[in-house]
Amino acid sequence: MPLIHILNGPNLNLLGQRQPEVYGHATLSDLEAMCRDAARPHEIRFLQSNWEGQIVDWIHEARLEAAAIVINPAALTHTSVAVLDALNAFDGPVIEVHISQVHKREAFRHHSYVSHRADGVIAGLGLGGYVAALRHVATLI
Ligand code: DQA
Repeated sequence: MPLIHILNGPNLNLLGQRQPEVYGHATLSDLEAMCRDAARPHEIRFLQSNWEGQIVDWIHEARLEAAAIVINPAALTHTSVAVLDALNAFDGPVIEVHISQVHKREAFRHHSYVSHRADGVIAGLGLGGYVAALRHVATLI
């Protein structure tokens, strides 16, 4: 079964504690369990880092082992050409997910470098955005 990488950027380790009015009360491990379930029968590699270079390295690893990437780049969405360039070196489908509806928030969240590469973008569906992304990539791989 093809492997799907699910990559999470800075501060998402604090899911459930950080701004619950924006990101909800579920934790990153709740999210991982939800994704593992939704992805079945596909395997997932579920990762989170607060470091841009680590996210870049994992995208490089995905080139060798993943059929698709679901990524919530978090704040790197709005700042990182390095993450965009790494995704441009990946051949499979890429879906960008945001838990919150970034377009209803501050203007600096309205631009995404990652959207220049993403095949689909989901925002504002809460953790359900990851489930929707996984259902969609399952139709592509
Ligand atoms: C986020 C939105 C980003 O603007 C923010 O920096 C995050 C999380 C989201 O999932 O809604 O950390 O990607």
